[in-house]
Amino acid sequence: MSKNKKAETAGLHWWVVSLSEDVSADKPLGVICDGRDYVLFRDAGGAVRALLDQCAHRRAPLSLGRITAQGWIECPYHGWRYSGESGSCVNIPNLSAEEKVPGYGVDAFAVEERDGFIQLGTEGLHSDRTQLADFSLAQKSAQWHASHLIAYPHDALVDLLLDAPGAVLQIPGATILNNHRYGEPIVSPTTIEVTHAVAWTPRGKMPKQAQADFPLALRLMVEKAGHSARVELSDDTGAVLIAVAIGLSPVKRNLTAALWRATGEPYRERILELGVRAHLDALEIKHAYVYPSLLRRDSAAEQLIAIA
Ligand code: FES
Repeated sequence: MSKNKKAETAGLHWWVVSLSEDVSADKPLGVICDGRDYVLFRDAGGAVRALLDQCAHRRAPLSLGRITAQGWIECPYHGWRYSGESGSCVNIPNLSAEEKVPGYGVDAFAVEERDGFIQLGTEGLHSDRTQLADFSLAQKSAQWHASHLIAYPHDALVDLLLDAPGAVLQIPGATILNNHRYGEPIVSPTTIEVTHAVAWTPRGKMPKQAQADFPLALRLMVEKAGHSARVELSDDTGAVLIAVAIGLSPVKRNLTAALWRATGEPYRERILELGVRAHLDALEIKHAYVYPSLLRRDSAAEQLIAIA
């Protein structure tokens, strides 16, 4: 059995590692989560499988191999084949018909495909499923999805999302006002919720009063553990124009994967596209007012309450 590199993030065992459409039965997909290499693929039944991306023979990356007609993954080096369900080696090409496949295998991991996201249980096949995140979105007339690798540590990115959402999110044509929050953060045992004003970005002949006439609000609900976040952009009647589900996972120490899906309705004859920035807004980071993120940490929250 392969030796695993110890995961770098303690306590959390399920992470979003891919969008559904990026995992196929034609080509394996290599992903890195919390410093460890995995290979994802679909087996013959269409189920997503996840194995450690390291052949048990000479550690070649299985993600460079292929998927066989039986739905096994085949190592690119000497052709050992593995079952995605168990990680067991099921075929070695140079064995004679009389020889049995020895009990080799690679580590296999639990996978949950739900609402277009692939969540990976990094504790193995029996990862605790109570940590699975909910990414369901209400159906609307437009849908879009994307992903970015962001050069910023995962935990710091989750904090930044709470303290300065405009540094992480973008809405072309509108500006998220980091310094204009509606009310205090709402804290539950598992989430923190903040709401910010959103201003129309002036352009062309847009009348000056447009912002007051058509105010927008951005409601952000961030899971304290940092796996996921939800964002809603609403108009002045409270109608949700855009809803976004975001998966956040640590790739390596200073690299975070952000994957999201969104649904939206036209507003003033166009769809506002809310998404995650490919590059964080450095100026906004510099001016981020650290407050809601402190509520992620119980000891810091207790201090705040004591000061108040
Ligand atoms: S390294 Fe994979 S089969 Fe030899």
